[in-house]
Amino acid sequence: MSEVSFVAGCGLGGLNTWGCGGSCRWLASPKNASEAAVLIKKAADEGTGLYILGGGSNILVQDGFIDAGVISSRAMDALEVHAEESGARIEASAGVPVKKLLALSLDKGLTGMEFLTGIPGTLGGALFGNAGAAGCSFAQLVEWVDTISFDGVSRRWRSEELLWKYRTCPWSEGPLLITKASLRLSSGSREEMIGNIRRFSALKKGQPMGAKTAGCVFKNPEGDSAGRLLDLCGCKKLRVGAAKVSESHANFIENSGGASAADIYALAEMCRKRVYEEYGIVLEYEIKFFGAF
Ligand code: EPU
Repeated sequence: MSEVSFVAGCGLGGLNTWGCGGSCRWLASPKNASEAAVLIKKAADEGTGLYILGGGSNILVQDGFIDAGVISSRAMDALEVHAEESGARIEASAGVPVKKLLALSLDKGLTGMEFLTGIPGTLGGALFGNAGAAGCSFAQLVEWVDTISFDGVSRRWRSEELLWKYRTCPWSEGPLLITKASLRLSSGSREEMIGNIRRFSALKKGQPMGAKTAGCVFKNPEGDSAGRLLDLCGCKKLRVGAAKVSESHANFIENSGGASAADIYALAEMCRKRVYEEYGIVLEYEIKFFGAF
């Protein structure tokens, strides 16, 4: 295969949960790893940047034009369940929505993924940022992950080779695209699973509902909560243009209508500065950036 279709000059505002940002050089949605490899090579040959888009729920996209290609993993949606003696192995492509995985596990009585309750986005994005809740993450589930590096090398990583740290990309080797992963789950009681889902869901009670956000903007510093620190610094009163700090949780920034990426970034930096000046703590971004900031 040599040709994979793409959209030139594609706007990214409709493809991220903040609903802002400009356009990229091209956007393509490969259906599988071999199509993705063709696109990675295209970006390398053009000598421009390359970004990987999952569900768009944890990114801030620069305003204006980004001279880079964007590969959306959404069309890589293959999903297989392989029954095993005391559970099953789920093989899922990177674009499978996290919600779909959770629903499937509940349907099949496979426990271990309940921590994904309320987490938006795709499997690829969730693995890339090691998404989790209350100390639970993919570390205990992953058997292997397939990737293609931006210099074109395909590789299968066993879970033990990866660095599973709180909200940190498990790969330090340089930029790559996740294509597929295998997750191991055990058989569980439906009742217990529903109890777990309720418990994880309750943890999200203080978070803004229905607003345009990208989840928590900053990672929690060790032993503390970024939301708590931002709140103590009075950040809930801050806004820049239509970007405002959520009144329900200070680690969320809402686009209340027409905020630009520059507004959101300026507000995030203002909040970060306050916490540094007040507590000497440098908050680290949890969100990922597309383009220059
Ligand atoms: N708090 C405040 N004011 C605020 C926000 C929080 O005082 O504005 C206090 C809370 O009252 C609580 C403490 O800070 O005592 C911790 O807050 P919360 O329970 O909301 O948890 P969090 O540490 O802010 C983390 C994750 C969330 C995840 C929840 C529940 C990070 C950065 N955030 O939030 O993940 O949903 O725990 O498991 O790790 C995300 O990563 O995008 C995300 C939303």
